[in-house]
Amino acid sequence: MKATAKSPANIAFIKYWGKTDLKSRVPENNSVSMCLSDLYSLCTVEFRKDLKIDEIEFKNEAVVKTKEKERIVRVLERVRKLGKVKWKAKVVTENNFPKATGIASSASGLSAVTVAALGALGMKMSEKEVSKLARLASGTASRSIPDGWVEWMKGTGSGDSYSKQIFPVDWWQVSDVVGVVTHKMKKVSSTKGHVLANTSPFYKTRIQGMKEKVKKIKQLIKKRDFSSFGRLVEAEALNMHAICITSKPAIIYWNEITIKVMKEVMRWREEGLESYFTIDAGPSVHVICEEKNAKEVAKRLRRVEGMKRAVINRPGVGARLLT
Ligand code: PMV
Repeated sequence: MKATAKSPANIAFIKYWGKTDLKSRVPENNSVSMCLSDLYSLCTVEFRKDLKIDEIEFKNEAVVKTKEKERIVRVLERVRKLGKVKWKAKVVTENNFPKATGIASSASGLSAVTVAALGALGMKMSEKEVSKLARLASGTASRSIPDGWVEWMKGTGSGDSYSKQIFPVDWWQVSDVVGVVTHKMKKVSSTKGHVLANTSPFYKTRIQGMKEKVKKIKQLIKKRDFSSFGRLVEAEALNMHAICITSKPAIIYWNEITIKVMKEVMRWREEGLESYFTIDAGPSVHVICEEKNAKEVAKRLRRVEGMKRAVINRPGVGARLLT
């Protein structure tokens, strides 16, 4: 009745921002991402007869909000219902990066809990079903289930909104060098951001263009056309943040270091180091480059004043049971 899972963070090239169904996390548009090789969560779930309540432990975390624990308990409840089990569980979870800073900790953390809980009960489900289950915990968690390059389909509703692999891990040697700019948790959660998205006067226009963007990015990945891919990825990140900035109330996820890195990346490009930035709901910056340039990008990121860490990622595998 015990299992451990390892699940990666992922970076979205075409992003998920806004939902058609808030509760079951059905997105407004399809999104396209890559699982990250070096940023992940580890989670152990053990269902035990002697427990009166679910016990959730976050290893190496100074601050844990009640809401975070409740989200994990909801995963356990869903899995218990499916497995027709009543026992409560002990959960121990940890990340190898700071949570709630724009590095998809809810994607890795909640997909890891989902896979570990299913594993602990010995439940076998198709990748599609696991992805749907993870989506109910956190939308982006659905994209951490398959390996490599992934598309999350919005589908027609909760029943058919899931993620699938579109290209394997070794399809293209692209790196995401993540600049960790803070250890502080963001003030506005992405859950709140999704709700506010349609208060931006530009949201309708964004959504109208998403089908075409998803089609385009898949073509560029297929052709391995790095320059066009990078330009589209960067423009898409700015487009999503334009929605955040113009929501009511406005959400600004960037800090001074984020902006400094954005400008640096643009300068490096002019100097011949081809790289592009993308940013999720937090101040950390993901610098996308070809693998041959990853070490140089990491070196330059580490030189930016205030930078905590730079982590080089290749395309990675999705969630896995370790036991
Ligand atoms: O953390 P979630 O699942 O509520 O969504 C965050 C969405 C972004 O990271 C901002 C974009 C994306 O598609 O990953």
